[in-house]
Order: sequence, then structure tokens, then C-alpha cells
Amino acid sequence: MRALVVRPGIPNSASIEEIEEPVPDSSSLLVETLAVGICGTDREIVGGSYGSPPAGQDYLVLGHESLGKVLYAPEGSGFYPGDLVVGIVRHPDPVPCGNCAVGEWDMCSNGLYTEHGIKQLHGFCSERFCIEPRYAVKIDPALHRVGVLVEPASVVAKAWEHIERIGKRARWNPRRVLVTGAGPIGLLAAMMGIQRGLDVHVFDIVTGGLKPVLVKEIGGTYHTGNLHDIGFKPDVVLECTGVGKLVFEVMQSIAPNGIVCLTGISSGKRLLEVDVTSLNRGMVLGNEVVFGTVNANRRHYKAAASSLAMADRAWLERLITRRVPFRRWAEALSRQPDDVKVVVDFTIE
Ligand code: BGC
Repeated sequence: MRALVVRPGIPNSASIEEIEEPVPDSSSLLVETLAVGICGTDREIVGGSYGSPPAGQDYLVLGHESLGKVLYAPEGSGFYPGDLVVGIVRHPDPVPCGNCAVGEWDMCSNGLYTEHGIKQLHGFCSERFCIEPRYAVKIDPALHRVGVLVEPASVVAKAWEHIERIGKRARWNPRRVLVTGAGPIGLLAAMMGIQRGLDVHVFDIVTGGLKPVLVKEIGGTYHTGNLHDIGFKPDVVLECTGVGKLVFEVMQSIAPNGIVCLTGISSGKRLLEVDVTSLNRGMVLGNEVVFGTVNANRRHYKAAASSLAMADRAWLERLITRRVPFRRWAEALSRQPDDVKVVVDFTIE
């Protein structure tokens, strides 16, 4: 069987290789891969700066944003051939820590978790893969091709869940939301904000093209230019760029009792001069919260799948700006100007 394989730590080592055919045991599903989404994490792994192979192996099958069709399911598993499924990325650590022990592996506290296509577990960018039913999420067949958005949406569903939990520390009546970055995470965050009846604003450096249109279509307001000119103080910020300067700017621009949720993973090293005294003063006197979030557990995958099911299908289709056949995978990894989500599609040639 063919798989997209990398040698973690070695820049640009990705290639399609023949690997052993997966053979399901009595407790796992055999899944035919339909599509795999590409994100910044994949680019970092291919660039050699992130990722690790399974113990005892020197390669890692890439791909953590999956969509597949069940080919074989053990009896009593609750899955049937033909079901559409998405694989859960993270597996609990083997200790397990207190969070992993209760299924909250996205909050793993000892760092010994593993992640498909990222950390010590092969990913889904192969023609077929095996997965245990407890790490597979069945999705509504109506979602069909946009089901590949469930994984990135799960990360956003978790972000919103935590924002709401933090908000409930006191009376909670947010109105205005700012999302920084109109990539797939930012746009899905905006979509979930609109689904909650909030006034959603999206800020990005891009001045034209598809992104402003997508924001407008869901009823959001698009901003570009200088963040200080947006003209209001948001109650909630979802920072989806990981750009250091913007991270500090949003912390300085929230409303009293505001919440800033950081979802973007920064890379490289950038030094910034920051007035920590005034930042601290503002945060304390304003009861402000800044928190980071990563990954998702089963509850968040389910929330993501229902949120996508409620969304406008045509809008979700347009988030996927390019579908690249598996054999041309390299094109999916190179960024193009109007890209939002790029997907490796196993069903096209
Ligand atoms: C994935 C998460 C993962 C994180 C860190 C992200 O791209 O969506 O599932 O936890 O990378 O490895």
C-alpha cells in the first residue's frame, strides 16, 4: 500500500513509499482513506522541525486531518462498512495521567501522549489505515467531502467550549468576538461564533480575494490594516495566527472581563519589546483571561461534527480551496495565495 512518509528531523524527506498493508485485528476498523487535510503542523514536520516516528521506526506516515470510509468493522463495534469516519488525533499517555484517565487527553499533563501523523503514531495519509473504534468518530453522511474539516473544527470546538467555561466564572453575556487570522481555524472559529448568535469580526492582513467574501457570507465583518483601528473592544478574542506582535496587541485591546484564547502555534524566534507593567495592570484591573488551547477530545469531535452539520454546506465546500490527488501531494504542501484549506484527495487522479 502507498503512504506519504517522512523521516522526522530531516528537512524535505517526504515521499510516497510502499508500506505494509494494515491488517485489522478483532478489535479494530479497517478504513479506506478518502481525504487528508494539510495544515501548518504538516509543513513543520516536512520541514524537519517537528514530529517524531513510532518507537523503533525511522519514518512517520504523515496526516492527522482525516476522512475515511469503513471497509471492515468488528461485530458489536457500532461501526459498519460504508460508514464515514474521522480518526481522533491524540491518544492518551500510557501512565495515564489524571486527565488522560478520564478521556481528557487533549489536556494530557505529562506530555507522554501520542498523536497520529505527528508524534509517535503513524498518520492517515496512506491508502488504508486501521483504527480502534474508540478513536474513530462516525460522521453524518450528509457532510460527505467536508467531513475532512472535522479535525480542525474539533480544535475550534474545544476553544469555544473552554471560552464558555471560563466565561461562566461570573455573569457571562459576551457580544463582540474578534478572530485574528482568516485561515481554516479562524474561519471555523468565526462560523462557530456566528452559530452562537455573536457579533463576529475577523482580522487578517489579506485585503482581497476569497477570505473577506467568506467572512461576509456568514454574516461576519472583515477587517484589515491596523488592529487598533477596528473601533471596539472585543469581549472574546480567538487568536489564530500565532504571530507574536498580534498576540500582544489583542491582549491589550480586549474589553473588561474579556477572554483571549490563543490557538496559533508560533514557530521560529522573534524578540519583541513589551510594556509588561501596563499589560499586567490592564489584565488585573480588567479581570482578563489569556489562555492557550491545543488538540481535542472525543466530545469536541462530536461538537465539531454537529456544528459542521448545521453550517451551510456550500460555504464549507469553499473553505477547501484546493483538492490535490494523492500522487501530487507535494502541491498540497506548497502554499498558494488564496489558499484556505488544502486537501490531499484519494478519490481523484
Ligand atoms: C493538531 C492537533 C495537535 C497539535 C500539536 C495540530 O495541528 O490539529 O491535534 O495536538 O497540532 O501537535
